[in-house]
Amino acid sequence: MKIEKLHTMDFMGIPGKKVWEFRDKVTVLAAPNGAGKTSVISALRYALTGLEPEGEMIHKGKTSAAVQIDTAKGSYCRIKKLGKQSRYVMNGKTTSLGELTRALEEEMGVSVSNAKIITSSELLQGLDSRQFGELLLNYLPEMMDKETVISRVSNATPLMRKIMEDNLPGGDFGTKELDSFFAFLMEKRKGIKKEIMEEEAVIRLYGCDVPEGENEENLRSRLDELNRQRDEAVVYSQKVSAYLQVRDAMEKNRAAIQQIEEELEKITAVRHSGDERQAVEELMLAARKAAHAALDAKKLDRANYNTLKDAVETIRQPTCPLSKNILCTTDKSSVLGELKEAMKRACESFNRHDQECREATAKALEMEEKLRMIDCDNAAADRREQLERQKQQILETTLSLPEKPEKGPDLAEISAKIDRTGITLRKFQDHKKVKESEEKIKVKKAELEALEALYSAFSPKGEVKKEITRLYLDEFSGPCNEKAGKIFPGMSIRFVSEEGVSVQVDPKGTGQYVSFRSLSGGEKAAVAFLLMLMFASISGIGILILDELSIMDEGVLDALLAILKENGDEYDMAVLACVSHADTLEQLKKHDFWTMVI
Ligand SMILES: Nc1ncnc2c1ncn2[C@@H]1O[C@H](COP(=O)(O)OP(=O)(O)OP(=O)(O)O)[C@@H](O)[C@H]1O
Ligand SMILES: [Mg+2]
Repeated sequence: MKIEKLHTMDFMGIPGKKVWEFRDKVTVLAAPNGAGKTSVISALRYALTGLEPEGEMIHKGKTSAAVQIDTAKGSYCRIKKLGKQSRYVMNGKTTSLGELTRALEEEMGVSVSNAKIITSSELLQGLDSRQFGELLLNYLPEMMDKETVISRVSNATPLMRKIMEDNLPGGDFGTKELDSFFAFLMEKRKGIKKEIMEEEAVIRLYGCDVPEGENEENLRSRLDELNRQRDEAVVYSQKVSAYLQVRDAMEKNRAAIQQIEEELEKITAVRHSGDERQAVEELMLAARKAAHAALDAKKLDRANYNTLKDAVETIRQPTCPLSKNILCTTDKSSVLGELKEAMKRACESFNRHDQECREATAKALEMEEKLRMIDCDNAAADRREQLERQKQQILETTLSLPEKPEKGPDLAEISAKIDRTGITLRKFQDHKKVKESEEKIKVKKAELEALEALYSAFSPKGEVKKEITRLYLDEFSGPCNEKAGKIFPGMSIRFVSEEGVSVQVDPKGTGQYVSFRSLSGGEKAAVAFLLMLMFASISGIGILILDELSIMDEGVLDALLAILKENGDEYDMAVLACVSHADTLEQLKKHDFWTMVI
């Protein structure tokens, strides 16, 4: 991948908008200390990978920074805003981070999220061996396949092989997939542990001994037999309750009949005929009528008597009945006698009518009483007939008592037996569940063991990464040493993979290897350059970023520049940064590198 232009806006130490052109394969940024070389390099890396530099990325006093790279295929821009979300623009159009990364990865041909583009100054700062090992792994191309990886796992059991076969991707893949597989193992391990715990819980829940001398089949047939007996017992208890129901009903009827009969016994009255009643009634009415007539006659007699009495009184007077002033001279004794006779007769008539009235009244009362008795007797006769009808009805509806059922099986006893047998049978079923769980645990534990072994083999410090690193290191240490010898005659580099990968260097060919940290500044810069070249070569990310070159003396820089030129095929572009000392500029000129003076 070749970058043609880099645009920066308020990026680190570079204020305002600037355009940086990369005309040749190698671009040298030559400027005094603090001029902004590292800022340009950081901008280039941020544009490519999104990796933010240490320190503040936005120029002091500004609220946003932007970078854009232009390649032959398009332009990719990242805009960082203070306290806001970053924005991404591709070929002038706003896009997402995912889309931008995908397009960049397609152009670079490698995964930028894995292969962080390292600068030589970071190497010079001295990564520890673990970091270096990780870095190297990240740079490895996607050239592993299932078999390469599986063959790196020592003592792989068939189950471990199967887990790897089933879950590692097909075709070529890189370290990202190894990390995903490791994450998968971690999750799977957790899952299996949980499943084992669940099965153990089942064992705790259902764990019980099965009764001795019993077996499931016998219990089942016993249960069938008991169920059959229970059905019989249900039928029997239905019969018994039907019998008792009839018996109770009969008992009730008997008591009702007895009550009726007792009442009937008390009713002695005979019914009177209608004619009889009518005759008595007529006699009663006639007597009443006679009593009334006698009473009226009596009243008349009394009135008559009183009139006669008044007449006698008047006649007895000495004066004329026409005027009290005239004395009566007529003899009135015969009239008086007649009047007295009439009074006597009126008195006798009154007495006779009084007697008649008494007799008729007594007769009417007697008939009234007789009529009341007749009505009373008839009512009693009605009641007797009603009771007899009731009795008849009861007798007609009374069922005959069925035969008392023979003694049958006891439902409660059989149900208790069924319960007990069911409990025993459940113990067998629980036991079966426990056995199944134990079996599952056995299988899961074997799987867990395989997963644990794979988990440690694929862990960041595990044998797989170590072995794979060694595989590629062996491949690259030869060419690396060849170039090292050209810079420092006799220098040789070796990679020791233990905890990650440590770089050991024999700077003078004396056979004494020292760690990368122990090298002189110039030696470190040269080895860092070689490692950079190696990274570019193995990763396919053909962009070399070499910062802090000024540390090297003339000869070393000269050799390094020569190697850079000779190995032009191994990278697409290189960006170098050095302080613009006159002699350095002279050397750059000698090697014909295009120098950008900031
Ligand atoms: N966010 C920022 N805002 C303003 N200034 C910054 C910011 N970051 C860095 N600087 C300053 O920008 C200047 C350029 O720094 P840079 O590291 O790019 O210089 P350099 O050319 O690499 O120097 P050297 O040769 O010493 O490595 C420095 O003075 C630095 O302090
Ligand atoms: Mg710098």
